[in-house]
Amino acid sequence: MNLKGRDFINLEDFTKEELHELIDLAAELKAKIKNGEQIDICKNKTLLMYFEKPSLRTRLSFETGINKLGGSALFITKAEIDPGKRESIEDTARVMSKFVDALTIRTFAHSDVEKFAKWSSVPVINALTDKSHPCQIMADILTIKEYFNDVKGKKLAYVGDGNNVLHSLLIGCSMFGINIAVATPEGYEAPEDAVALAKKFAGETGSKVEIFRDAKDAVKGANVIYTDTWTSMGQEDEANIRRIVFRNYQVNDDLVALADKNHIVMHCLPAHKGEEIDADTFEKYAEPLFNQAENRRYAQMAVMAAIM
Ligand code: CP
Ligand code: NVA
Repeated sequence: MNLKGRDFINLEDFTKEELHELIDLAAELKAKIKNGEQIDICKNKTLLMYFEKPSLRTRLSFETGINKLGGSALFITKAEIDPGKRESIEDTARVMSKFVDALTIRTFAHSDVEKFAKWSSVPVINALTDKSHPCQIMADILTIKEYFNDVKGKKLAYVGDGNNVLHSLLIGCSMFGINIAVATPEGYEAPEDAVALAKKFAGETGSKVEIFRDAKDAVKGANVIYTDTWTSMGQEDEANIRRIVFRNYQVNDDLVALADKNHIVMHCLPAHKGEEIDADTFEKYAEPLFNQAENRRYAQMAVMAAIM
């Protein structure tokens, strides 16, 4: 696998084989870190992180991840450089490229990350846009692999908002042969382009993509019950209405009881307990939930090691 210089913006930009190799590399790097081994794949390399939205996991996992690879990170926010206002994205990206070896970008508009990639001469990693969250899903696949060994043929049920995380989950699951069942309320469905792409990949990997209205229908027999916030960053004005629309889409013990007996609950976090997930249910699955968060680091270390 030679991915040097490639951007990591959409999962579908990579072949299934390349994504499998990245997951294997992530598991290998995790084992080495747990073993206290020194890794210097990115020695003397610098990652610049530009974030327009808040972050806990993504920032910590990228920063500690590049450090563990022997490199270093710089973090910069919109308040400092305001791309598109203070200076065009075209020029910002070209300046950044003169100083660092890769960019990790979290924006509202997906097209802004694409624009950074177009004008940057160093690789660009999508750290979440309003459309997708590919790094999250790489960590999720690694997590599912750890709990179930072989991911192919397992069933993931996603309950909640048809958002950026679901977009990437549909594509990631179908590329890895994981059956995905989705339940969303009317008006908040999974993005159509992601469903179409997922169906194409599912045809190639022999997996299923199922779309439901009722959360119970999606969760039946699932090995992974996955949810995300009802209100994503940037949608705060809709929070009250969303609390009403999504009230039947909470992951709780009653819903989880319909899953396969061999199951885990996942959430990209941050969680809003009492909304998309019940607080007691959350605690019962704290182990996989926080392993999932930790795996962000190893998944992204694999991506950085491969492209930088
Ligand atoms: N899951 C995730 O991306 O978390 P942060 O927004 O805290 O980075
Ligand atoms: N859907 C959420 C994911 C946060 C990691 C958001 O975009 O805010």
